[in-house]
Amino acid sequence: MALIKKFRIKSYKNEENIVELKNISVFFNKRQILDNLNLKINKQEILGMLGPNGVGKSTIFNLITGLKDPNYGEIIIEGINCTKLPINERFNKFKLGLVPQYGGLIHDLTLLDNLKLVAEIHIKEKEMRTQKINKLITKFEFESLLNIKGKHLSGGQKKKLVIAMALVNDPKILLLDEPFAALDILTIKMLQETVLNLQSTEEISVVICDHQARDLLNCVDRAIILSNGKVIASGSPNEVITDTVAKNEYFGDEFNIN
Ligand SMILES: Nc1ncnc2c1ncn2[C@@H]1O[C@H](COP(=O)(O)OP(=O)(O)OP(=O)(O)O)[C@@H](O)[C@H]1O
Ligand SMILES: [Mg+2]
Repeated sequence: MALIKKFRIKSYKNEENIVELKNISVFFNKRQILDNLNLKINKQEILGMLGPNGVGKSTIFNLITGLKDPNYGEIIIEGINCTKLPINERFNKFKLGLVPQYGGLIHDLTLLDNLKLVAEIHIKEKEMRTQKINKLITKFEFESLLNIKGKHLSGGQKKKLVIAMALVNDPKILLLDEPFAALDILTIKMLQETVLNLQSTEEISVVICDHQARDLLNCVDRAIILSNGKVIASGSPNEVITDTVAKNEYFGDEFNIN
């Protein structure tokens, strides 16, 4: 915990929200996944989402990006109701960045060409594009992998590439679906530092969900715990791990973050 915390420059207490999910219910066939869920993501905060498999974490990301429509409720981004706004318009208008749980890269393109492809979509000027790509190559230590095709990268290398691709357009809202899965210890630390640096240098809001609860709680300002379609606890990492309901339904008795 101490290793990470020293990278925190200040505590982010901006209560103004950038994304709001209002009274959201989602059904797949007749199975209810989210039940009148209310969730606010504050400006410039790093929010962690925890919950058991199948609780609806990826579904929440899909609702924010527009990949899934809610059956009931509204999605508000920067005060604008965008429940019906198409995916591409949402990505451009609000500068969303998504690292999906699976996939997210083109397997037949090399690592460098995957980065170039995203950069060409988002950055018009060639010089800026090259600068951005070079910066990401250095940050993620991709130098020896540039000409390897996506399909031949290891699981962790793929994940790192998809994270780098999500950062190309300097997102204002960054959604990370299990970013730590498959990453080695030092890469997890690098990613945690990257997220904390982004928070202090850019106006960015980040939502992370992951089953590596310790790694997640070490770098978030606030965490929510989901269970049975609802938010059952919300607060600082220390608050949620000592919350009785969260302990009963998610953490168990033995869990600690040290
Ligand atoms: N397209 C779909 N059709 C039918 N059911 C779906 C579909 N997408 C998701 N579900 C169901 O919705 C529930 C929530 O799925 P979701 O992927 O959001 O869970 P999750 O919290 O991200 O789980 P995990 O931690 O395993 O990634 C699951 O029960 C899943 O089976
Ligand atoms: Mg998921």
